[in-house]
Amino acid sequence: MELILHGEPNPRQREFFLSRARHTAYGGARGGGKSWAMRRKFVLLALNYPGLRLLLLRRTLPELRENHIVPLQRELHGAAKYSATERVFTFPNGSRIKLGYCDTAQDVYQYQGQEYEVIGLEEATHFTEEQMQFLTTCSRTSRRDFTPRMYYTCNPGNVGHAWVKRLFIDRCYTAAERPEDYAFIPARIYDNRVLLESDPGYLRQLEALPEDLRRAHLNGDWDVHEGQYFREFSREKHVIEPFCIPENWRRFRSMDWGYNDPCCVLWHAVDGEGRVYTYRELYVRRMLAGDVASEVIRLSGSERIAYTVASPDMWQHRGAVLAANGGFEGETIAELFAAKGLSLTPADNSRVAGWNRVREYLAMRPVSAEKSLPGWQCFSCCTNLIRQLPLLEFDRYDREDAADGDDHAPEALRYALMSRPVRTPEPMIRKRKAYDPLSLPETDPGGWYGK
Ligand SMILES: Nc1ncnc2c1ncn2[C@@H]1O[C@H](COP(=O)(O)OP(=O)(O)OP(=O)(O)O)[C@@H](O)[C@H]1O
Ligand SMILES: [Mg+2]
Repeated sequence: MELILHGEPNPRQREFFLSRARHTAYGGARGGGKSWAMRRKFVLLALNYPGLRLLLLRRTLPELRENHIVPLQRELHGAAKYSATERVFTFPNGSRIKLGYCDTAQDVYQYQGQEYEVIGLEEATHFTEEQMQFLTTCSRTSRRDFTPRMYYTCNPGNVGHAWVKRLFIDRCYTAAERPEDYAFIPARIYDNRVLLESDPGYLRQLEALPEDLRRAHLNGDWDVHEGQYFREFSREKHVIEPFCIPENWRRFRSMDWGYNDPCCVLWHAVDGEGRVYTYRELYVRRMLAGDVASEVIRLSGSERIAYTVASPDMWQHRGAVLAANGGFEGETIAELFAAKGLSLTPADNSRVAGWNRVREYLAMRPVSAEKSLPGWQCFSCCTNLIRQLPLLEFDRYDREDAADGDDHAPEALRYALMSRPVRTPEPMIRKRKAYDPLSLPETDPGGWYGK
């Protein structure tokens, strides 16, 4: 029986079909046609390459059934044989689409030792980074006519938000990852004419969502997600292009020390109104204390730096651990920095008060009656800080605090802002009153006439 595939891809879906990258993600807003594109791509690949092995995964079985098994059974009726026990569609040319799920952390090991030319992760942000990494080990082939590929569809939010954002949005790679292997196609509901015409109410529903959910689900904004600690962070407001910092602005540094964990040093400047600008970042792993100190001094050049606040644990005597990191037993990390000519001040490490201080600085402050700016902005070159700050999540047990995680740059920012004086409330900015002789009081108790 001949297979008739209904529907034409929209331009974004076409891009997804044409991508040959090792990893292609199609993501962002809800309803753009991502799942449709994933199913259709799998069927086209199965038909075009005889004997191809494809694995399509969702996090849970009920989601898999609703989203893919039922629609594929409908679309492939008579064209591919479905085995419900194996959850496999077998095509007459020998290609097989296996549908699977990874509900628990262990579920992923059922694919150990298996080989697939194509693996698709539907709602990839529902998968943990470990699950994704394990699955990439199953993405391989001995065929010469096909290079293995992985496809991802995703919306912002959930456990996998951070790794999807790192690989496909921030494009921040480890030494083992090659940037050219990762392609991202942004999804918009406006691309999906079929849905807009058949169900205009769906767009209205997305438009009526509260601000942060609307940013994520309608605009596909990756800087906002559920459980997020700093919802007020916005690239538009807080990230600026570098400018030449005036000589008379006070400069200072802050550092979150780490050796096995990353070490982050930030440079800040304060303008005449107390606004703080983070203008440089050093983010390194496994660098000895003395080398970090030398690098900080080198990067600072001839800049006059008032002080450097740093993690209070740098004043602990770490004995053998420290010795292994290149110091002498009994010497503190702070002493190692001092020996290189970089003296440090212990930072105030009150976590909740510190995060509240960051929140205060993220808030908009009036500059004039018409204009307002946040109390803190960051130069676009501080990539780790810009990536990590919106990723911070609320701690599960202490709802006032942020959860521990990939937070070395935000910690350094917290130390920095805790070293600044508490801000007094903004003075009220008076609107100039237009002259209206009819509204003038008969007497002048407030001295209005004279002003
Ligand atoms: N090119 C197309 N032709 C016909 N129908 C389409 C096409 N693209 C998408 N659709 C239909 O539009 C609707 C929404 O598409 P789909 O479920 O793929 O969106 P999605 O981006 O996966 O949404 P979500 O973000 O909620 O997962 C579905 O009914 C789907 O069948
Ligand atoms: Mg979908």
